[in-house]
Amino acid sequence: MKQCKITVFLKDLSIRFRKEVRECSLQATTTVVLCLSMVSFVVILAMFINNNVKKYLVSEDYSYYQLATFTPLSSGSPCPYFLCNSFLSPTSLQPSQFPITSLRDWVTPKELCHSMNDKELLWRASMVPHIDEYPYNRTPKVAFMFLTRGSLPLAPLWDMFFKGHAGLYSIYLHKSPEFTNQHPESSVFYQRQIPSKCFLQPAEWGRATMIDAERRLLANALLDFSNERFVLLSETCIPVFNFSTIYNYLMNSNQSFLGSFDDPRHMGRGRYNKRMRPTVTLSDWRKGSQWFEAHRKVAIEMISDVKYYPVFRDHCRPPCYMDEHYFPTLVTKISPELNSNRSITWVDWSGGGSHPTRFVRKDVSEAFLNQIRNGFNCTYNGGITTVCFLFARKFHPSTLDPLLRIAPGLLGFRS
Ligand SMILES: *[C@@H]1O[C@H](CO)[C@@H](O)[C@H](O)[C@H]1NC(C)=O
Ligand SMILES: *[C@@H]1O[C@H](CO)[C@@H](O)[C@H](O)[C@H]1NC(C)=O
Ligand SMILES: *[C@@H]1O[C@H](CO)[C@@H](O)[C@H](O)[C@H]1NC(C)=O
Ligand SMILES: *[C@@H]1O[C@H](CO)[C@@H](O)[C@H](O)[C@H]1NC(C)=O
Repeated sequence: MKQCKITVFLKDLSIRFRKEVRECSLQATTTVVLCLSMVSFVVILAMFINNNVKKYLVSEDYSYYQLATFTPLSSGSPCPYFLCNSFLSPTSLQPSQFPITSLRDWVTPKELCHSMNDKELLWRASMVPHIDEYPYNRTPKVAFMFLTRGSLPLAPLWDMFFKGHAGLYSIYLHKSPEFTNQHPESSVFYQRQIPSKCFLQPAEWGRATMIDAERRLLANALLDFSNERFVLLSETCIPVFNFSTIYNYLMNSNQSFLGSFDDPRHMGRGRYNKRMRPTVTLSDWRKGSQWFEAHRKVAIEMISDVKYYPVFRDHCRPPCYMDEHYFPTLVTKISPELNSNRSITWVDWSGGGSHPTRFVRKDVSEAFLNQIRNGFNCTYNGGITTVCFLFARKFHPSTLDPLLRIAPGLLGFRS
């Protein structure tokens, strides 16, 4: 009996105990769940705040943020354009850490590399902001665009010219694809070759491909919104003033410098083709040097043209040379008031014949350069000046030594 009572008591106890345990565990579970949801709430809150702080940092100083996220990518290896797309590969980077659309990236692409074809590139480069004021500190730059057949033998002179002026210029190279030799890392030309995926034939002088190459150079340079003035140069060109003089001359000019004139002779009007009518008439027809300088506004017109380009491509064939007529005629048609109609690249045609004089080592002297620097009269912003040419061509590679010797003294280049 007693034993039975104890058993009952024990049973009772165990049931109550189990019940209590169950209740307790229920309570414990509730507490744990509550705790967990509070923790996750705090975590989510923290992430949210952190994100906002990041966003704030980004808008305050996006270059800091860029630096942090871009470092592993920019290893400094040459940029093979066909690998461009790997930059956007979703597997290599988490989207939230890769702000492709940061303003700085968009207005000043760090890499020349892109995977656009010419049609896409021209369209992208033709974009113009509708708000005049820039939302960031914009220092206008001069884009130096080198269209060369082969290497750049006078590169050391240019390196000297640009020294100490970083931030005020951009360099773009368009070489034939068979010239793959790289410029040394110390050179301003290092990795400045523009992507040329669709550029399979070497630029044929005077044919549409040459204009295509020039437009491709312009379009690539236009992608950088800081580029304000655009100079087209060849491998035989030299600067005849120091960087600051050239920079100020271009930035302060309210006109572009594209040679454009009406040449009544056989090699001018004689090259006009009546089939260009009515888009281009004989009175529209102009001639001028291929080596131009253009303001951003004019440069955008030059790459956006879809009206005149096909007419020239189809009807300006040798002995009509598109590179001597297309831009001079186009700019005169579209914005004559923005052009000075003169080139700032001096060349000597006095020898006669179809090619200008080529200068060699013995031709280079201070007197010779000074003649180019100050020996002419022309108009500049409505006034008269003797500084008419900032560049000169055609200089043979043998002129490099005397030029490097003369430049520091005469031109004030930093050696
Ligand atoms: C350049 O030529 C165009 C067309 O002939 C003319 O309208 C314009 O006034 C010229 N510009 C200068 C600065 O002479
Ligand atoms: C430039 O103009 C000045 C003053 O009008 C004149 O003396 C000089 O001969 C001119 N130079 C040239 C190359 O025409
Ligand atoms: C350029 O500036 C000069 C001098 O200020 C002025 O006479 C001329 O009209 C200007 N030209 C243009 C196209 O704004
Ligand atoms: C650049 O050339 C100008 C004259 O064209 C001269 O006044 C200036 O001192 C030169 N700059 C340097 C850094 O030598």
